[in-house]
Amino acid sequence: MDENSAKSEGEEKVQESSNITLRPIALSDVDDLMVWATDDRVTKFCLWETYTSKEQAVEYIKNQAIPHPWLRAVCIRNHAIGSITVTPCSGYGSCRAELGYVLAHKHWGKGIATRAVKMVVSMIFKEWPHLKRLQAVVHVENKGSQRVLEKAGFQREGVLRSYELLKGKAVDMVMFSILGNNSSVG
Ligand SMILES: CC(C)(COP(=O)(O)OP(=O)(O)OC[C@H]1O[C@@H](n2cnc3c(N)ncnc32)[C@H](O)[C@@H]1OP(=O)(O)O)[C@@H](O)C(=O)NCCC(=O)NCCS
Repeated sequence: MDENSAKSEGEEKVQESSNITLRPIALSDVDDLMVWATDDRVTKFCLWETYTSKEQAVEYIKNQAIPHPWLRAVCIRNHAIGSITVTPCSGYGSCRAELGYVLAHKHWGKGIATRAVKMVVSMIFKEWPHLKRLQAVVHVENKGSQRVLEKAGFQREGVLRSYELLKGKAVDMVMFSILGNNSSVG
């Protein structure tokens, strides 16, 4: 690859990630959602199984995604290419929430997830003033996702052993977090 084509590929990546928007998901996004939800490469580290029918996607959008406390479709030119969620952690006195994200395989490696996570961090602590900590738990082998969190300013806190059941097997997860500006540290 010559210097110019390497440069234009880099510029293309920056352009694509800076063009993303976040918006609520709708039933009309079902075909776009099917692209990532039916892809084993995408679901490898996800707690849910790869979808095998459009009905599953319709059910998910109607019963989980639309009622979700904070779920946004990650879009390019208003087409959903993935989703990002912030889910409040329940429990008395909880001031934390958990981040999750997924992107269609075709769009990996262009800085899009990092950009989306940064956008969410800049919004969520303002939208939810009670929130002091945004955390994310990532499979130990999911290096791409760990890198996304590091690039977005999250701190790696440690490994949680046998923390979640992934497709029937207890797996180790890495805990990451970022604190809101007004959180007391230490
Ligand atoms: C994880 C995911 C969201 C990343 O999205 P993305 O848009 O490709 O991420 P970005 O391009 O912003 O950053 C990825 C970074 O990880 C790096 N990376 C990717 N695979 C890697 C690997 N196997 N080992 C080390 N680094 C890796 C990339 O090089 C890049 O870092 P860099 O910019 O320093 O080069 C995407 O791969 C995905 O949807 N995966 C399936 C669902 C999932 O795992 N979700 C997270 C659950 S916690």
